[in-house]
Amino acid sequence: MNPQTISTPQAADAGTASAIPIPNPLCEQPDFSVPAEMVAVLDELITHYPRKRSASLMLLHAVEERYGYVSRQAVEWIAARLELAPINVYELVTFYPMFHRQPTGRFHLRICRTLSCALRDSYKIHDHFCRKLGLDPHGHGAQTSKDGMFTVEFVECLASCGTAPVIQCNDTFHEEVTLEKADKILEGCK
Ligand code: FES
Repeated sequence: MNPQTISTPQAADAGTASAIPIPNPLCEQPDFSVPAEMVAVLDELITHYPRKRSASLMLLHAVEERYGYVSRQAVEWIAARLELAPINVYELVTFYPMFHRQPTGRFHLRICRTLSCALRDSYKIHDHFCRKLGLDPHGHGAQTSKDGMFTVEFVECLASCGTAPVIQCNDTFHEEVTLEKADKILEGCK
């Protein structure tokens, strides 16, 4: 067999998919760049997987954590790093709700709306945050305040149903949240 005709399943997948355009435009991030030390960490991480493609979620998490969202440039960068087509990365960004396609605020308020929290007034807390921050209480998806400070978003179960209602502000969990506690959380962000 001519060695030039040999291709891995990964390369074949990427080759087919590379012809598929990204269906919806992602947010542009013209100044997107990944610092050398982050590239080194991610490249090392990729070596832990039998196929580069398997590291896709890890790279997306790293980008989301650093930039707060995943832009078109980020998708293309990850795809190139993993020898995939951008569509292979894009489909993950649109499937998993933890990846954001728009920039998020400096403080990201995630409010659980699953049953235990819903029964204990998490909708009222969401409404309260939205009104205080000038956002639409009936809006769908993540909303960011005009000053770029806060993003408010409903999420599903945050795995602390016994202490509902629960919210997460960046990496900090707050349990048994009342409207009074909600105000204190906002105050603590200033
Ligand atoms: S239902 Fe809200 S933490 Fe589980």
